[in-house]
Amino acid sequence: MRGKKSRKKYVIAIILLIVIIAAGWFFWASRANTTVHTGIDIMLDGQGGRNASALVIYQPGRTSFSEDVARDLADGICKSGYRVRITTVNPELSDDLSGYDLVVFSSPVYMGACSPLIEDYVKSIRNYGKAEVAFCATGMLESAPELEAVEQWFSAHPLKKIGKISKQMYLDEENCARNWGQEIAGE
Ligand SMILES: Cc1cc2nc3c(=O)[nH]c(=O)nc-3n(C[C@H](O)[C@H](O)[C@H](O)COP(=O)(O)O)c2cc1C
Repeated sequence: MRGKKSRKKYVIAIILLIVIIAAGWFFWASRANTTVHTGIDIMLDGQGGRNASALVIYQPGRTSFSEDVARDLADGICKSGYRVRITTVNPELSDDLSGYDLVVFSSPVYMGACSPLIEDYVKSIRNYGKAEVAFCATGMLESAPELEAVEQWFSAHPLKKIGKISKQMYLDEENCARNWGQEIAGE
């Protein structure tokens, strides 16, 4: 009888531990999309004589995947002749993007949502000037229901391209993010 009782307590303790670890992991993972990253500001010189500039704003994830995609996007844009600035949403960012010809946002997806930091920043932008705008989500899943909400953020400024690069796609299709970048930078 005593043995049965202590076994029950043991099972309950294990279940509680699993629930606490899972909740902590979800909390930690989803915080990636609300963590402000400062000090990331990289300039790439355009390859070719085009006098145009682009801004890539991305939200880092838990691993380097989101950053790898952002850098590849920038690389593709750069290959099309643009000077490219890569940065994150941070307090230094201007709400006037009229100095750019192309602006690309990239965000990881956690629990069906892109970064609220990017959302708040997008909604604060006063002036895009002549800039064309694109949005690239990164995630584990191929399906992208989260992009419906993202499209609403840009209702006042139609997107040139919106899509998602999944981890599998990134592994299987060499240069997929670079090609994405070249495509949006195309005339
Ligand atoms: C708690 C959690 C929830 C996630 N939810 C989604 C999701 O709804 N859609 C999706 O495509 N990927 C989802 N992912 C996968 C992340 O988007 C994936 O990890 C992403 O590529 C970011 O890379 P990183 O977290 O490895 O840095 C989720 C990952 C975690 C850990």
